Amino acid sequence: MSDSCPGSVSSGAAALPVLDLRELEIPERRAAFLAELGRAAREIGFFYLIGHGVPAEKFVRIEEVSRRFFALPDEEKLAIGMANSPHFRGYTATGHELTRNRPDRREQIDIGVELPALELGPGDPVWKRLQGPNQWPAGLPALREVALDWSATLRQVAIRLLRAFAQALEQPADALDGLIDKTPAQLLKLIRYPGSSDPALRQGVGAHKDAGILTLLHQDHHGGLQVERPEGWIDVPPIEGAFVINIGEILELATNGYLRATMHRVVTPPEGVVRYSIGYFLSPSLEGSVPLLPLPEHLAKLALGPESDPENPLFREIGPNAIKGRLRSHRDVAERHYPEQYAALDRFDRR
Ligand code: OGA
Ligand code: NI
Repeated sequence: MSDSCPGSVSSGAAALPVLDLRELEIPERRAAFLAELGRAAREIGFFYLIGHGVPAEKFVRIEEVSRRFFALPDEEKLAIGMANSPHFRGYTATGHELTRNRPDRREQIDIGVELPALELGPGDPVWKRLQGPNQWPAGLPALREVALDWSATLRQVAIRLLRAFAQALEQPADALDGLIDKTPAQLLKLIRYPGSSDPALRQGVGAHKDAGILTLLHQDHHGGLQVERPEGWIDVPPIEGAFVINIGEILELATNGYLRATMHRVVTPPEGVVRYSIGYFLSPSLEGSVPLLPLPEHLAKLALGPESDPENPLFREIGPNAIKGRLRSHRDVAERHYPEQYAALDRFDRR
């Protein structure tokens, strides 16, 4: 992370490959597509996806409902504040989410799989509380239908990609299905970045890696997303109708670092500009642990190894890691619903 040298940002759509998912279904293009997919995900961890088949009218509907949501009066948004939800669902006002302990300048709503909360006893692991219902704004009933439809549509695209990744790694197409075949998990975030020219407010979202399997991002036409490369931060300018796809830490872990979860961030738009984005995060089912794919020798020798500590026994367990990440990012939820873990968090972070 090099906040100290903003001059190192370079521009170029050309820096990120553009992949066309239709090629996966064309027998004579398939091998080239898989090779390109594997390379993009290994060398950069980010690429654009076109030919994904999501109809233009679905983009229009989700964009429109997102703008209507953020235009609701503050009281209506705060009424579904995430602090109400032990399942980490709902609205987060600007400055209330932390990345590396610093506040992000964005407001957002987090929407997960719509499932009832589990009935839990004292002996149950704490991560089981992540499952539960979403919070919906009373004044915008369309949000529920449009958001759940968008999530269901993008889940299918994400799963097609996951299976393509397995094949790009010379594994059976279903080699990674164990990550998603138990209780489904995912996160949809509608996000709004308000502009500012105050240099102290540059962090739209701070540099981070995504925690899940894969992310499909739909950004509006304003730009601001940046990806870390060896030469510095590069811009990821919007391409109309294309998703920006990136690898999450789970896929990095499953491939021993062959596929890369790359650092990225969003720079606050200039004063007077508002940027909207919509992130769909395919998450692993909380039960179980991340498998390690048996890569063939010629691929295994290119794997970088995961960056976190493989000696940590909790490392591959999905549920405990998922709750840890959520507690760190959303202190108000932690304090209200997880007081014991909150106390431990503070000790850790105040070191
Ligand atoms: C994220 C993220 C990028 C964006 O929410 O994890 O990286 O453009 N968002 O909003
Ligand atoms: Ni991200």
